[in-house]
Amino acid sequence: MSRSSSLLVTNCSQIVVMAGPARPRVGAEMRELGIVSDGAMLVEDGSIRAVGVRREIETLAAANVEFVDAGGRVVMPGFVDAHTHLIFAGNRADEFEMRCGGMTYQQIAERGGGIRSTVRKTRAATEKELAAVGEKHARWFLQGGTTTVEAKSGYGLTLDDELKILRAVRRVSQVTPLRCVPTFLGAHEIPDEYKKQPDAYVDLVVKDMLPTVAAEKLAEFCDVFCEEQVFSVPQAERVLTAAKQHGLGLRMHGDQFTSRGAVEVAAKLGAKTADHLEQTTGESIVAMKEAGVQPVLLPGSVYAIGSQKYAPARAMIEAGLPVVIATDFNPGSSPTASMTMILSLACTQMKMTPAEAVTAATVNAAWSLNRGYEIGSLEAGKIADFVIHDAEDYRELAYFFGGHRPHGVFAAGVRV
Ligand code: NIG
Ligand code: FE
Repeated sequence: MSRSSSLLVTNCSQIVVMAGPARPRVGAEMRELGIVSDGAMLVEDGSIRAVGVRREIETLAAANVEFVDAGGRVVMPGFVDAHTHLIFAGNRADEFEMRCGGMTYQQIAERGGGIRSTVRKTRAATEKELAAVGEKHARWFLQGGTTTVEAKSGYGLTLDDELKILRAVRRVSQVTPLRCVPTFLGAHEIPDEYKKQPDAYVDLVVKDMLPTVAAEKLAEFCDVFCEEQVFSVPQAERVLTAAKQHGLGLRMHGDQFTSRGAVEVAAKLGAKTADHLEQTTGESIVAMKEAGVQPVLLPGSVYAIGSQKYAPARAMIEAGLPVVIATDFNPGSSPTASMTMILSLACTQMKMTPAEAVTAATVNAAWSLNRGYEIGSLEAGKIADFVIHDAEDYRELAYFFGGHRPHGVFAAGVRV
């Protein structure tokens, strides 16, 4: 790591500034990236002081400024990954092999695999071990150009094990440059010991877990997995209503495999996001629009489980929804930390334009985490989280797929 109080980033083929209104971008705004050609950016004390055409910015720099030569490459905001399951123990390469042999994600889950198999391993791990896993994953995100992630719990499913994961997330925030926004997902799955009495588990989430998580300020958001065989719509509503009373923001895993009214509950409770949405139809799109819910689309989880049905991104953009895309990084349905892979899938499978995908992966994602005022674009005053990509044109990030490595990643003006 190198540290300097003042940096001048120059020789950029493009600076993708994403200047615009102080809110998530919708409709045609999603295609306006505010690109400056042959630009420069001045960073002071970790924040962006000025960005624009090179000649003008250079005149503002102090004599002792440190030069960062982008070498004719693209400079962009760090990716904001608004849906990750950052911390889990072990992996599920064994289940991956079973899926390659023809079993489905749900069949494996019904037989005690899936989320519950990761829960068994995560319960057996210590907080220290989980923090070490989180630090390893943080390196993967940073190496891919992601500087902020939302990080969910949800592989503990007891009070102590959920707290352990959230404390490990906090530790990752403290010891790595990756910014983590914590989300409590105690209602991710019904644990084995409550399979016959799921409502008793919901009681535990509402009466024990949520008050403790809120009191210890371990999470900013609460999420629920609303799905057949997991949490019903009334159960999801109960959890999110309680979370709202504790002052947490709301997110929702909904419409992934079946459409059952999850999105309507998210809208009714004023959730910040509804995530997945592969089965979402027109009426739910209208409900999200009216309630100001941001859709978070997760094409990696469609690709990796070998499904064909992606969320209707075009209909959502045309309806004026401020679409977000994210990795859904997790050991089952989406084992990728690569936002450039997600850009590729968004463009090739959901027919988003490269510009829309970049907006969805940066500024719109930042607003969905209540961070739009400080990250997600390269405007003066914001934190200097930026990436020099090994590309001359931003469209190359979605176009070349599978092997992208950024040239340089900076968090708060410090090279990672
Ligand atoms: O977002 N859908 C529920 N949760 C995760 C998968 C978690 C897992 O398989 O471990 C998801 O796809
Ligand atoms: Fe998820």
